[in-house]
Amino acid sequence: MLVSCSNKRVGDKRDLISKIDSLEKRLDSVYTPGFGETMGDIQTHHAKLWYGGLNGNWKLAEFEIHEIGELFDNLIKYQSSRKETEYLSLMSPSIKNIIKVIKEKNIEKFKKGFIQLTNSCNECHIKTKYEFVRIIVPRGDQMGNQKY
Ligand code: HEC
Repeated sequence: MLVSCSNKRVGDKRDLISKIDSLEKRLDSVYTPGFGETMGDIQTHHAKLWYGGLNGNWKLAEFEIHEIGELFDNLIKYQSSRKETEYLSLMSPSIKNIIKVIKEKNIEKFKKGFIQLTNSCNECHIKTKYEFVRIIVPRGDQMGNQKY
C-alpha cells in the first residue's frame, strides 16, 4: 500500500514535469513584438497623428497619440530586457503636452507640440546610438490611402 502510494506520487511528479516542459517550449515560441518592429508601427502612427492634427481631425489625432502610447507600453512589457527601454520616460512630457493641445483643438499649438514630440523621438535615438534614424515632420502626402 505504502509502495503503490509513493509510486503514484512519483508518476504524478513526472506528469507535472513533462507538462511544465511542454509549456516552457510553447512559451519559447510565443510571438512577442520586436523593438524595431514596434518602432515601425510607431512611425506610422506618428505620421497619421500629424495629418490628423493638421486637418483638424482631432478625434483621429487623439486616437493616434493613444496608439503611440500603447506601443510604448508594449516596449515596457515585452522589451524590458533591452537597456534602450530605460529611456522611454523621456517621451512623457511631449506626449502629455500633445494630448493637452489636441483637447484644445489649436492647430498652431499642435504643430509646435508635434515638433517637440518628434525631437523627443530623436533624442532617444541619439542616446541609444541610433542617431541615423532621424524622424522629421512628414513631408508631402504620405499615408495617402486614408482621408484625414
Ligand atoms: C526609448 C528610446 C526610443 C524612443 C523614445 C523612440 N525610439 Fe525609435 N528607435 C529606438 C531604438 C533603440 C531603435 C532601433 C530598434 C532596433 O533594434 O531595431 C529605434 C528605431 C526606430 C525606427 C527604425 C525602424 C525601422 O525599421 O526603420 C523608427 C522609424 C523609429 N525608431 C521611430 C520612432 C518614432 C517616430 C519615435 C517617437 C514617436 C521613436 N522612434 C521614439 C529607440 C527609441
